[in-house]
Amino acid sequence: MRLALIGDVHLQFDAVDVRRLDEGDYDAVLFVGDLAGYRDAGLEVARVMARLRTPAFFMPGNHDGVHLLHLGAETIEGAYGSHVLQRLFAPTQAPRCDALAAALSPIVMVGYSHHEVGDGARRVSLIGARPHSQGGGGIHFRHHLATRFGVRSEEDSIARLKQLVDDAPNEELVFLAHNGPKGLGARRHDIFGCDFRAAEGDWGDADLAAAIAHAQDRGHRVRAVVAGHMHHRLRGGGQRIWQVRKNGVLYVNAARVPRIERRDGEVRRHHVELRLDLPEPSAASVSTRD
Ligand SMILES: [Fe+2]
Ligand SMILES: [Fe+2]
Repeated sequence: MRLALIGDVHLQFDAVDVRRLDEGDYDAVLFVGDLAGYRDAGLEVARVMARLRTPAFFMPGNHDGVHLLHLGAETIEGAYGSHVLQRLFAPTQAPRCDALAAALSPIVMVGYSHHEVGDGARRVSLIGARPHSQGGGGIHFRHHLATRFGVRSEEDSIARLKQLVDDAPNEELVFLAHNGPKGLGARRHDIFGCDFRAAEGDWGDADLAAAIAHAQDRGHRVRAVVAGHMHHRLRGGGQRIWQVRKNGVLYVNAARVPRIERRDGEVRRHHVELRLDLPEPSAASVSTRD
């Protein structure tokens, strides 16, 4: 089984990507989010993505289904534990998400959901984790999570994710999240490490880590955890570690931004090929030239 992973889109996806990915004969395409664009520009790119013939799944990031002021309020107020502006902007998030889901269709927008990839011979359950994650502790866009998913706290999120694991019909699991789990390192270049604070730190999500541990306790084989959000190129220079193998799980951060690079008249496109081979999955960075 082969899956194509598309890192944070940030408006970088066009008809050539559609053709290349379909030609790649993947079992599914997983988008880790941050299509961004905030409204019309984002919806336009979503409609291009929707032309994929390969089954595809999209995890909303912290830049999706929101506008810039809302994202700013989440970032600033979240740091101070205040929620005045977030509450004000929250009612706009559901219709924005609905518009994005409609533009992406038949691509499935995931989030607190489980899905199947593969065919009769081999099926893997895909668990869509908490949508709109911004990392760094706690949950984000909590008013939207509360109204749409009944998730009001990190504890609620953990319970919801564990229930999804318990309901998954297949032994083999792949998690799709926007930001990765806590516990994979606290240095700036670690797979989900913080590169924008002098103190560095682990920017991973605790609810996702709890769900993965729960799945393993329950005897599921967690083959891979796919996320993005923490871009490869580090602030202050250097590159992030983008794949890690730990306790039999392959963790992949697909967030190469920009994923389409135009340099010296050359266009290069990035995605990750995830092979769910037995006994060990593997991930390779794929760079194609136009
Ligand atoms: Fe991003
Ligand atoms: Fe993000």
